[in-house]
Amino acid sequence: MQQVRAVVARAKGEPVTVETINVPDPVVGEAVVRIQSCGVCHTDLHYREGGINDEFPFLLGHEAAGVVESVGEGVTAIAPGDFVVLNWRAVCGECRACKRGDLQYCFATHNATQKMTLDDGTELSPALGIGAFAEKTLVAAGQCTKVDPSARPAAVGLLGCGVMAGIGAAINTGAVGRGKSIAVIGCGGVGVAAVAGAALAGASPIIAVDIDPKKLEAAKRLGATHLVDSSSVDPVEEIKRICAVTYDGAEGADVVVEAVGRPETWKQAFYARDLAGVLVLVGVPTPDMKVPDLPLIDVFGRGGALKSSWYGDCLPERDFPMLVDLYQQGRLDLDAFVTEEIGIDDVEAAFDRMHSGDVLRSVVVL
Ligand code: APR
Ligand code: ZN
Ligand code: ZN
Repeated sequence: MQQVRAVVARAKGEPVTVETINVPDPVVGEAVVRIQSCGVCHTDLHYREGGINDEFPFLLGHEAAGVVESVGEGVTAIAPGDFVVLNWRAVCGECRACKRGDLQYCFATHNATQKMTLDDGTELSPALGIGAFAEKTLVAAGQCTKVDPSARPAAVGLLGCGVMAGIGAAINTGAVGRGKSIAVIGCGGVGVAAVAGAALAGASPIIAVDIDPKKLEAAKRLGATHLVDSSSVDPVEEIKRICAVTYDGAEGADVVVEAVGRPETWKQAFYARDLAGVLVLVGVPTPDMKVPDLPLIDVFGRGGALKSSWYGDCLPERDFPMLVDLYQQGRLDLDAFVTEEIGIDDVEAAFDRMHSGDVLRSVVVL
């Protein structure tokens, strides 16, 4: 066991604190990773606010890159010294989803079996089974994906959650590509990642929609071909108009990604699709939200698919190394997502800045 500094949320709504925690030595199937970077994600804030569950205290942080320090018995896929991006989809290979080939739906994903603890022995709940606002963390070996060690940790660590969710929503769930149009509603970190994914896949046009002009500028830098400020124009009509310019007869976009997580924007996405288009919901709604007044005949009559995308339907071992290579080649600008590098003591301040609209990602660098 060793002691490290880490960011802990002790109680609902209370500011987080930096504390000394105990990290056990890895046993069978586990690894201890020395964290180099970890992005600040909305989900960390949701944990602190008690919006995920009540299993306080939480060890926050889950968008991380680092170096494997030690591994437990039987671990062969990674070794001490490997540079890894952490993931929260270490698939089991044995559940029904895995057996039928839908590994991205695995419902028995692996986490470390031992618990990290506070100084007094209280067990910590690591955010998404990771807990990486910490100098070191204990995870399941399968949560470590080896990638090109020359890549910048603060940039590639973001593939561990939000950026992968966005890229995957476009590429994996929406299956955009050359010859297809896409609109992305909501251009925060997740939405602009969907824009970047669509650009990588060769989609055109790539229409970014937001109510905040600053977010639209970020989307433009990452490959949006058209910007729609939906605080002043009807985004559905505008998406239809833009798509019809490129594709004669198009009545909307082939793929519309909803990256806000609200009924109004989901409904916009629903109606902004071309016939037989795909709607991808990657924004996370709250349990009370409902879609009001949607005629069932419109669901039937427009055809296509209404999908949701959890973690971008990613498979870390398949997707992370590929995306890191594209980053290294200059084809995927992950640096653009890193608005600022901060210290481990600055997480609470980063939560405050999330609401300002100026930040795609604050990244803790250790
Ligand atoms: N129309 C268009 N855009 C909107 C609207 C709206 N009515 N309301 C909010 N937005 C924009 C915001 O201006 C912001 O740019 O949606 C974006 C949301 O971005 P962030 O708050 O930065 O959130 P992000 O990290 O991108 O996550 C988006 O995906 O993973 C989920 O839980 C996450 O639900 C959240 C969503
Ligand atoms: Zn499984
Ligand atoms: Zn996250």
